[in-house]
Amino acid sequence: VNTVRHWFVVCTSSNLGQRPLARRLLDRPLVVFRADDGRPVAALDRCPHRNMPLSEATLVDGGLRCAYHGWTFDLHGRCVRVPALDGRAESRARDLVVYPTQEQDGRVWVWADPDSQPTVAPVCPDPPPGKRIGWLRHQWSVEAGLSETLENILDVPHTAFLHRGWFRGRRPPVPVTALVRRYPDRVEAEYLGEPRPGGLAARLLAPGGGTLSHVDRFLLPSVAQVEYRLGGRGWLLATALLTPETERCTRIYGSLQFRVAVPAWLLKPLLIPIAWVILRQDSRALQLQTRNQQRFGGAHYSSTEVDVLGPEIARLLRSDPRHQASEQLLAERELRLWL
Ligand code: FES
Ligand SMILES: [Fe+2]
Repeated sequence: VNTVRHWFVVCTSSNLGQRPLARRLLDRPLVVFRADDGRPVAALDRCPHRNMPLSEATLVDGGLRCAYHGWTFDLHGRCVRVPALDGRAESRARDLVVYPTQEQDGRVWVWADPDSQPTVAPVCPDPPPGKRIGWLRHQWSVEAGLSETLENILDVPHTAFLHRGWFRGRRPPVPVTALVRRYPDRVEAEYLGEPRPGGLAARLLAPGGGTLSHVDRFLLPSVAQVEYRLGGRGWLLATALLTPETERCTRIYGSLQFRVAVPAWLLKPLLIPIAWVILRQDSRALQLQTRNQQRFGGAHYSSTEVDVLGPEIARLLRSDPRHQASEQLLAERELRLWL
């Protein structure tokens, strides 16, 4: 996967407190902390002296003091103090490997290649919520690779089975048209004319019934987005910013924004428990899928055309990393599926 020269979220602004944080990005352990000038700092979670994890260190004067022998590093990762040497620390070999960071909208992003400077901005199609829009944010991890997790979030047919009764799967299936559009940096599928599903979540979001149209979208390097339009003025936008922690573990920074007929404060306490059930069902399916692939020594897939986005996501993830955001439509196809 060509993901190294990209930004990924490693934590939220509020995760950075009085203690350094241990995180993983692309199989590498990172320590993340806030320097005393307010900047988030990310470095390899390994003291250059004897390899103690720096996530065990103490924050002192905006720097990091290793828990083992007290070597101290500043916000640029420079070793500024070796206590037993009476403070002297001239050698660059004692410095940390630091990663470029950026903080915006309450999230801390890390450029995954410490040997290069960022060439693009973080991909974050998650507009700050406006007035009269309800919103929620949550982060969690799943035991699955990036590609499988992205497919799960954007896959429609599983909702009638895995989430039966909670979302789709209550009424007999009807034919629905999907338009799949490919762009250089993204792929999206628009589903038209689906009657509102009968599940509890759908009933809360669109009490008046009517039809539903929705778009599932994948954007390089790791964003999955689902946008629903319901009946009259109902609207829901779920954005997942994914961080590949290891080959088999993905962290999800999710946000949900919605505008519905009932007030947001009324809907939230009803929506959250349903969202929890659905997330747990997806996490368990992803974990079982991952573990079974390990038992069989790798993935072995058989797909049909209603596996709408999975193969497209895998293809984009393997594509040239120097893709540019672009409105140029490369291809469009129409297909029919039963939902
Ligand atoms: S291991 Fe960090 S100071 Fe010795
Ligand atoms: Fe799901």
